[in-house]
Amino acid sequence: MDTWTKQALDKTIAKFRKGAQAAARQGIIPYIGTKREYLPSPWGSNSWWTGGFWPGIMWQCYNVTKEDAFAEEAIRAEKLLVDELYRFEEMHHDVGFMYLLSCGAHHKLLGDMKARTCALLAASTLAGRFNPEGFIRAWEGEDKTGYAIVDCMMNLTLLHWATKQTGDPRFEKVARIHADTTIREFQREDGSCCHICIFDPNTGKVLERPAGQGYKEGSSWSRGQAWALYGFTLSAMNLKEEKYLQAARRCADYFIAHIRPDGLTDCDFCQPEDEERIDNIAGACAACGLIELAKITGEETYHAAALKLLWGLHTLCADYSDDCMGVLQKCTAAYHNDGAGRHINILYGDYFYLEALCKLQGTDARLWMTE
Ligand code: GLY
Repeated sequence: MDTWTKQALDKTIAKFRKGAQAAARQGIIPYIGTKREYLPSPWGSNSWWTGGFWPGIMWQCYNVTKEDAFAEEAIRAEKLLVDELYRFEEMHHDVGFMYLLSCGAHHKLLGDMKARTCALLAASTLAGRFNPEGFIRAWEGEDKTGYAIVDCMMNLTLLHWATKQTGDPRFEKVARIHADTTIREFQREDGSCCHICIFDPNTGKVLERPAGQGYKEGSSWSRGQAWALYGFTLSAMNLKEEKYLQAARRCADYFIAHIRPDGLTDCDFCQPEDEERIDNIAGACAACGLIELAKITGEETYHAAALKLLWGLHTLCADYSDDCMGVLQKCTAAYHNDGAGRHINILYGDYFYLEALCKLQGTDARLWMTE
């Protein structure tokens, strides 16, 4: 395999070898890497949806190196996340991101049965958010009873995992219905997806499709497109039905048509041409989905597009030096909220960059895979 991917992987792991010690000293779940320290999510407690990515980084590093320090740091963060699960009140549909990459990974790599129980509890929480009108409710709040978002395509994997673990098809049925709704209500004819659908929670009728984290209503927020691309690919792997594969292909073809010449990814594929607003998390996540899609379709173009994205990230936006605690730069949280982070390191970008490099080196811990 290409030497640059091996070098990129080695340097990324080296950075997180130091990072694991720093995070343990700080006693937080890192969210952003600044020059000298990690910052936790500024939004409330450890219940913020990104909490699983730090232990996910640790487990990916552990899987490559088998160094105990990585597992120990993953388990330290997992404990903080499990406290949130038991507190329950602040839970949301992103329990998939949070607990598959923490508890699920702990069970997968070390066979820990308590971690398995916690991941099953998280799956039950996610299934409990299902509205029989056909969607999984995304967020809390009295005015959010009908909200569903495209990001949930990634969370569905926790449900597939729970069915595999327990033999109970209910989890998978919920995932299937939500994926069907996403194809019907989120995906447009050109393959792009909207971020948010607001449903009438009593009838399932779509009331509105606001811009969410994208540029404007009707535009295409690139990270949402990446969630859909990877999420439908995972649905296709789990459900083995052509319609999910076709949905993944449509997402991928649209994404690939919009990759910038330098391999980086605009924050929204419909943003004004004179706007310099990049979100490299989208590119890293899409690369993971494209590598898997290439495997299941046998199509080299998907793999080539993933390499183009990763080469752009490696050569232009990866900081392997000691000048920053994170690797991937130019990550942007949302199109219209610079206060949440614009063109900075955000660690879930690092997670997907690391996962993609591991895939290319044949050392992916396969944390989204249900077997
Ligand atoms: N899942 C929320 C985001 O991608 O920012």
